[in-house]
Amino acid sequence: MADGFLIDDVKGLLALDSRGTPTVKAIVRTRGGGIGYGIAPSGASKSSKEAVELRDGGRRWNGKGVSRALGLIDTEVRPRLVGVDSRRQDLVDNTLIALDGTGNKSRLGGNTTTAVSIAVAKAAAATAGIPLFQYLGGPARRLLPVPVLNVINGGAHAGNELNFQEFMIIPMGADSFSEALRMAVEVYWSLKGYLKEKYGASAINVGDEGGFAPPMRSVEEALEALERAIDRSGYALGTDFYLGIDAAANHFYTDGTYRVSGRSYSRDELIDLYVDLAVRYRLAYIEDPFQEDDFEGYSILTRKIGYKTLIVGDDLYATNTRLLEKGIEAKATNAALVKVNQVGTLTETLEYVYKAQQAGMKTIISHRSGDTEDPFIADLAVATGSGIIKTGAPARGERTSKYNRLLEIEEELGPTATYKPFI
Ligand code: PGA
Ligand code: ZN
Repeated sequence: MADGFLIDDVKGLLALDSRGTPTVKAIVRTRGGGIGYGIAPSGASKSSKEAVELRDGGRRWNGKGVSRALGLIDTEVRPRLVGVDSRRQDLVDNTLIALDGTGNKSRLGGNTTTAVSIAVAKAAAATAGIPLFQYLGGPARRLLPVPVLNVINGGAHAGNELNFQEFMIIPMGADSFSEALRMAVEVYWSLKGYLKEKYGASAINVGDEGGFAPPMRSVEEALEALERAIDRSGYALGTDFYLGIDAAANHFYTDGTYRVSGRSYSRDELIDLYVDLAVRYRLAYIEDPFQEDDFEGYSILTRKIGYKTLIVGDDLYATNTRLLEKGIEAKATNAALVKVNQVGTLTETLEYVYKAQQAGMKTIISHRSGDTEDPFIADLAVATGSGIIKTGAPARGERTSKYNRLLEIEEELGPTATYKPFI
């Protein structure tokens, strides 16, 4: 019986992500007939500390092909994993790490290791015949995540002049995940109506994560629009909904200065801006407020408003346990973003998640701006008891696949499913 869990085959296949860029898909089959696939997503606004994607270079696919990565699955990964017990995720991932042999996955590619690592977990769950979230998290996991939905896109994800990358609505006052999703969709639609009235039809074109990309100039304008949309839907800011931002500050930082809404800010001035915005717009969530090396800036902001607002490290930590330890030591943030492909294996991701949680931080399971139909992170969010997921607007198939999977999980859990505000 245990033999059924042994890995029988590992295959690599090209897939397209939501920007049409090639990515690595891995398909793993066990002797017992369990099949799992994993597809690596891809970021546009990356941390310099992330695992490196292996791309072919050259002219085909504008250099972004993955045939070398697929070749490595065939020649190096497959021979090492066939015969290994698929339930030994640690053994599988440590084999990938050793085979890669670099500090940043640059030889096999973080895209290769991510796809294989996820595919193995799914194949093991399928062989066991239990849902993925239960396989990964055990039978006691019942908490559905609060979605933070990026409904206005800026920064590297849209062709407008908004410096902050993401403006999010958070349906904190819902009683269940499905109610939260309904409330969020109502606000998303009301935002669409408001933007069309105010800025014209082109304002409702969407960016990479399904949020609208209106021709706005200032961050206040975007937050104002969210406040209006919530109000027009008959909800109240500060009870039913809170707001959030991902500043992704790496992208508007040069030589000690931040450029926001056409003005220059020192770090200390930027801290004042965040404190002010947090009060005015009920921000419960601020991600990457400073460039990725400024742990001190994060600490100051966390000390000032961390009691009511999550200060979230994304590019700051890059899902890397060593950077997280530095953040814990410095009390830099009270929350950590989680992206499997930033580090490249599930085992390293889980180590990071549980280390953050043990230190009292919230964890937020996240998609990438270039994502796919793979709903994996929905299961991961429930499995880790994270209580928060970030997976874009309720639009575009690569975003809705996660929401739709969470609806399924909620249904599977029935009345035992829970939903809790995170602040
Ligand atoms: P990315 O952006 O996937 O383009 O890196 C998402 C984020 O910064 O959270
Ligand atoms: Zn981010």
